[in-house]
Amino acid sequence: MAKLHDLYTPFSVKNLNLKNRVVMPPMCQYQATDGLVNDWHLVHYASRAVGGVGLIIVEMTNVMPNGRITPNCLGLWNDQQRDELKKIVDVVHARGSKIAIQIAHAGRKALGCDDVVSASALRYDGANEGNNSAWDYQQPRELSKAEIQEMVQAFQDAVKRAVDAGFDAIELHAAHGYLIHQFYSAKTNQRQDEYGQDKMLFGEQVIRAAKAVMPADMPLLVRISAQEYSENGFDLAYGCEVAQRFTAAGADVLDVSGGGDGALHPAHTPNFQAGYQVYLATAVKQATQLPVIAVGMLEDAEVADYVLGTQQVDLVAVGRGLLRNPYWLLHAEQQHKTRDGEQHFVPESYAASF
Ligand SMILES: Cc1cc2nc3c(=O)[nH]c(=O)nc-3n(C[C@H](O)[C@H](O)[C@H](O)COP(=O)(O)O)c2cc1C
Repeated sequence: MAKLHDLYTPFSVKNLNLKNRVVMPPMCQYQATDGLVNDWHLVHYASRAVGGVGLIIVEMTNVMPNGRITPNCLGLWNDQQRDELKKIVDVVHARGSKIAIQIAHAGRKALGCDDVVSASALRYDGANEGNNSAWDYQQPRELSKAEIQEMVQAFQDAVKRAVDAGFDAIELHAAHGYLIHQFYSAKTNQRQDEYGQDKMLFGEQVIRAAKAVMPADMPLLVRISAQEYSENGFDLAYGCEVAQRFTAAGADVLDVSGGGDGALHPAHTPNFQAGYQVYLATAVKQATQLPVIAVGMLEDAEVADYVLGTQQVDLVAVGRGLLRNPYWLLHAEQQHKTRDGEQHFVPESYAASF
């Protein structure tokens, strides 16, 4: 059995110091009421911290009620939501992991609300994309320029609350066909004003607004879809242009995903094999020189370790693997010997059982 070399090495960006290279990516839990975290979220995030994950990113947390993809998604549009989130931050810190939060607005992919908004009035065709086919997406209306400024302000207010709650880093959700992605994609942004002429402008403004309320030494992560998977979707070259623009605006780390933009087109459908999106992260790293997170079927610890060993990505995100097994990292370390034979982060309470 191969020895693991790189999963357990530390990583730092600005003042974010991670004890290993494993990230839990944001994953909606659909368990909230009024956008508030509860015991479910406390147990969910605390157990991954006990499992030794270096960086936990809290699920898509929305800046407005009509930004949620279901009425049971998290929000950060009021101070009560901030105060409840702080409890999760504290319990994760107590177990030695770092914690970020993904700030988002779903735009035209919002469900269960009356006022669905987007860059342009184009309805989402979710058929054939994951489990969403049965959901009834509504016709969105186009945001006015004044409303775009209010949206940027709502993102900034939510980021400020997240900083005040004690998160170690902020992630902006600019991927998977949600609002920021809706602006930078030509398929969903057919505006005639400056936000249509310059499709990345909205994302740039959100990034700058976020940075303005973040401490200078706190990193901003931006999750992008570096390639669209639907018909007439943009290619990786355009995804790299988006990454470069967002880097210039202030992104410190790029969390590189793909798709989410609509029904999969046979010509653009990924193979969904182990590490199937790593090449996107590698290309974005080369285009921007920023640290990148790779994601997508990296649940096999040997594969994840190999990907890090290529030194073409900096961090690996394990999503569904950590949903299935909060102690994924502990088991990986038990099953594979590490290079130096050390146990790196087994909690003291568990050490006796190893
Ligand atoms: C239940 C579930 C919820 C998800 N919610 C989010 C989310 O809130 N934000 C996001 O950017 N991606 C979300 N994703 C995508 C994951 O972050 C990740 O990119 C994806 O699962 C691929 O990684 P994996 O193959 O390791 O699972 C979700 C995925 C799952 C399975």
